[in-house]
Amino acid sequence: MKLKTLRSLNANDLNGKRVFLRVDYNVPLEKGNVADDTRIRASLPTLTYLLDKSAIPIIASHLGRPKGKPNPELSLKPVANHLAHLLGVRVNFIEDLENGYKLIDTSARNTVYLLENTRFYPGETKNDEEFARILAKYGDIYVNDAFGTLHRAHASTYGVARFFSISVAGMLVEREVKYLTQIKENPEKPYIVILGGAKVSDKISVLENLLPRADYCLIGGGMAYTFLLAKGVKTGNSIIDRESLEKVKGFLDEFGDRISLPEDHVITQEVKEGSSIEITDGDIPEGYYGVDIGPGTIARWTEILDRARTVFWNGPVGVFEIRGFDNGTIEIARKLRELTTHGVTTVTGGGDTIRALHHAGVSDNEVTHASTGGGATLEFLAGKSLPGLEVLIEKE
Ligand code: 3PG
Repeated sequence: MKLKTLRSLNANDLNGKRVFLRVDYNVPLEKGNVADDTRIRASLPTLTYLLDKSAIPIIASHLGRPKGKPNPELSLKPVANHLAHLLGVRVNFIEDLENGYKLIDTSARNTVYLLENTRFYPGETKNDEEFARILAKYGDIYVNDAFGTLHRAHASTYGVARFFSISVAGMLVEREVKYLTQIKENPEKPYIVILGGAKVSDKISVLENLLPRADYCLIGGGMAYTFLLAKGVKTGNSIIDRESLEKVKGFLDEFGDRISLPEDHVITQEVKEGSSIEITDGDIPEGYYGVDIGPGTIARWTEILDRARTVFWNGPVGVFEIRGFDNGTIEIARKLRELTTHGVTTVTGGGDTIRALHHAGVSDNEVTHASTGGGATLEFLAGKSLPGLEVLIEKE
């Protein structure tokens, strides 16, 4: 796969040109402010590059799922303010996407435009040709840096590309593809995968793709209880993904020697802040929920991780949002930070995992690569083709 990239363009392709830049600013907002700006910061290298080359970035993104209608709670206005602060340049906000292209000042330098939420228009998610044509009026060239949205064939991520003679990947997409391809196809061994999160069903294709390549797969979080139940361990009231039980038995039959499950657990009778906890080895009694991996598991997994040259981590290994249930997740995050300083390639995927890193006091640049995608990262690793990426690939 040969990606067409922004960095391969000539200065003339960019100088004074309007660049229609699709990013993924689908970020959490709280009381009208940006609550986590990881995805906004991840777009800064591309924006700075464009401004340095005297281009005029006109940024488009979705936020949430407003279902084709304006919704003030999902306006990108707070993001415009936040971006202006991070970038230190003027960010002009365009509310009316149908006519706003007339407002672009082509003589402007060090100026950025941000369009209102593309999903306020029904044509966006329908990949409507007319809406894509309107969006294309904003730019001379198309740059897609919205890695987290590449699995959507929407007007601004897919349909719009056909109206541009130049469609390229931004620097975030380039970086994401580089690291995720490395762990998907050619990880330096020993390669250890850590998977957590609540549902096995979300991770089946990823397991299918990564299990044959990994030397070890450490499975924690809610999904571990489905694996334990499949092995005949009692799991009490812990979360179980019954629909995936047969699939899980298949994984255990084929790859059982490389799957490592928790051997002890933090358990509680109530999954809420302040409830008392106990540690149990093996079976979880009725009336109890498993909410984190236990100290024995942390010690064993730390030993396994010490042998790694590549680690991929997706999904917290406990209910880390609740104090007392977060120890395993914190230890894993800090272990990845330590391994990174020893030259191990450490890659994390998914918004929950980034939140888990931050919860443990580990910043995104203390691992080799913290992927900004959720569903997009998992689909990429599962070997599925991402429509937004397809239009950025050099045809033979
Ligand atoms: C994400 O957060 O995974 C992306 O922004 C895509 O959002 P969506 O699932 O609403 O398409």
